[in-house]
Amino acid sequence: MGLFTASVKKVGLLTSGGDGPGMNAAIRSVVRGALNRGLQVDGILRGYAGLLNNEIIPLNHRSVSNIINRGGTILKTARSREFGDDAGKEKAVKILKEHKIDALIVIGGDGSYKGAYRLYEKFGFPTIGLPGTIDNDLNGTDETIGCHTAVNTALDAIDKIRDTAHSMERVFIIEVMGNKSGYIASEVALGAGAEDVIIPERKFDFAKMCEEIKHGHQKGKISWMIVVAEGAGKAPEIANTITTMTGLESRFAVLGHIQRGGVPTGRDRIMATRLGAAAVDLVLEGKFGKAVGILQDEINVIDLKEATQKEFKHLDDYYKLIKLLT
Ligand code: F6P
Repeated sequence: MGLFTASVKKVGLLTSGGDGPGMNAAIRSVVRGALNRGLQVDGILRGYAGLLNNEIIPLNHRSVSNIINRGGTILKTARSREFGDDAGKEKAVKILKEHKIDALIVIGGDGSYKGAYRLYEKFGFPTIGLPGTIDNDLNGTDETIGCHTAVNTALDAIDKIRDTAHSMERVFIIEVMGNKSGYIASEVALGAGAEDVIIPERKFDFAKMCEEIKHGHQKGKISWMIVVAEGAGKAPEIANTITTMTGLESRFAVLGHIQRGGVPTGRDRIMATRLGAAAVDLVLEGKFGKAVGILQDEINVIDLKEATQKEFKHLDDYYKLIKLLT
C-alpha cells in the first residue's frame, strides 16, 4: 500500500475506446480500493467524450456491486474527436477542476493512453493509465484487460466453424479483431490449430499459401482454417483469392464485436482487480504520468509515454509452431 498524498482527495475514473471484458472488475477495484483508503471517486461516463459533456457522477461502494463478472463497462465508453486536439484537452482539464477532481485514472488502450499522456505532459494534469483493450498492444504488461476473454471467445467460435469446414470440405478464412496488432490472430491460430495466420507484422506470401493448399489437397487434406487479423486483410477478398488460385470452395467469417463481449475469464478479472488496486497505489504515492501493468506476474509501472505501440514478441515463435504442426 502506498503513502497517502494529502493533495489528492478525489480521483476521476473513466473507460475509453473499445470496451473489453474485465473493465468492470477494474472499475470495482479502483472504486473500492480508493474509497477504502480515504479517497473520493467520481465516475466519468462515456470516456473523454462524456468528460467534455460534463457527465460526471459520484461513485460509492454500492455503485460497483455485482459487476465483477459482467462484460462491457458500467461507465460506458466512447471515442472522442473533440478531445483529440489540445482545445478539447484544455476544456477537459477545466471540467475536471470544476469537479475538484485531483487525478484521473484512464482505463483504455493505445489512443486513450496517448490522451492521458498529453493531459499530463502538456496540461500538467495528474493521470494514470490502466491497460484495457482486447488488442493487447500496450507496453509494460504481458496482457491487457480483455484480451484473454477475447481469445477464448474467438476460439469458441472457430471450434464451431471447424465442424462445418470439415464436414463440407472447405477452406475457411476467419477474420479477427486486433486493430494493427496480430496478437489475437496469432493466439487464436495457435489455439485453434489453424493452418495459417495472416498478420500486419509479417509480409504474407499468398501464392505460397495457395500452393500449400493445393499440395495438401492432392495428398487428401479436405479442410483448412486460416486466421486473418483485421489489420492485415479482409476475409472476403482472401477467400476469393484462394478459390481463384486453388479451385477449392472457400467461405469466410468475420468474428467482429462478439470478441469484445461476454463474461470475463478468471484471468481477466484477477488481472483487472490487481491493476485497479495498483493504480490507486500510484495515486496515493503521488506518481503520475504512469501506466500500470503486470509483467511476469509482478505489478509493473512505466511512463505513459513508453506504454503505447507494443510489438507482440512471440509472433515468430508462434508462426513457426503453426507451420510445424500443419
Ligand atoms: O481497439 C479495440 C477494437 O476492438 C479493435 O480491435 C477494433 O479495430 C476496434 O476496436 C473496433 O472499434 P469500433 O467498435 O469503434 O468499431
